[in-house]
Amino acid sequence: MREDIDKILVSVDELDEITSRLGKKISKDYEGEELLLCGILKGSVVFMADIMRKITIPCSIDFMCVSSYGSDTRSSGAVKIIKDLSQDIAGKNVILIEDILDTGVTLSHLSQMLSVRNPKSLRICTLLDKPERRKSDVIPDYVGKQVPDEFVVGYGLDYDEKYRNLPYIGILKREIYE
Ligand code: IMP
Ligand code: MG
Repeated sequence: MREDIDKILVSVDELDEITSRLGKKISKDYEGEELLLCGILKGSVVFMADIMRKITIPCSIDFMCVSSYGSDTRSSGAVKIIKDLSQDIAGKNVILIEDILDTGVTLSHLSQMLSVRNPKSLRICTLLDKPERRKSDVIPDYVGKQVPDEFVVGYGLDYDEKYRNLPYIGILKREIYE
C-alpha cells in the first residue's frame, strides 16, 4: 500500500498529538455535562477509537452511516442515510466525529437534520479540514489539522474502500484515481 502513497501528510506521532489535544479540549469544554460522540461511518472509525480514549470525562458513543462518495474522489452532492443513530438525541450534548471536512455538503445536511431532533447542543469535530474546497457554510468547532486540496487516505479514510487500514494519512498518487 505504501507504494501508492506520494507523501505522508500526518504521521502516526502527529495523529497521537492531535487526538490528545482535541480529547483534552473536549474534556474541559464538557466537564460536568453529559456527552454523546456520534461517529460518521466509515471514515471516522479510527479517529473515533483514538479520540474517545483521550476524553477523560464520561461519554457515550453512537454511529451514523451516510454516503456521498462512490468510487470517485469528488462529492456527488447528495447525502444518503444508510444507518441512523440508535438513540434519541433530544436534550443531549452531541459532537459529530468526522474524518474530513471537504465541500461541507455532508456535514451541512447532517447538522440540519440532527438539529431538528432538539439536541441540547450540536458541535462538529473533524480530524482534517480542506477549507479550499468549501461549498457550504459549515464551521467546525474542533479541527485536527488543515490539509491542502489533495486526495488523502489512511487512518480510516479510503479511496474506493481501500487504504483505511494505513496507520498514517498520506496523499494518494494521482495515477491511482486518474
Ligand atoms: P464533503 O461533503 O465534501 O465535505 O465530504 C466529506 C466526505 O467526503 C468525508 O467524510 C470523506 O468521507 C470524503 N472525502 C472528502 N475528501 C476526502 C479525501 O481526501 N480522502 C478521502 N475521503 C474524502
Ligand atoms: Mg467517507
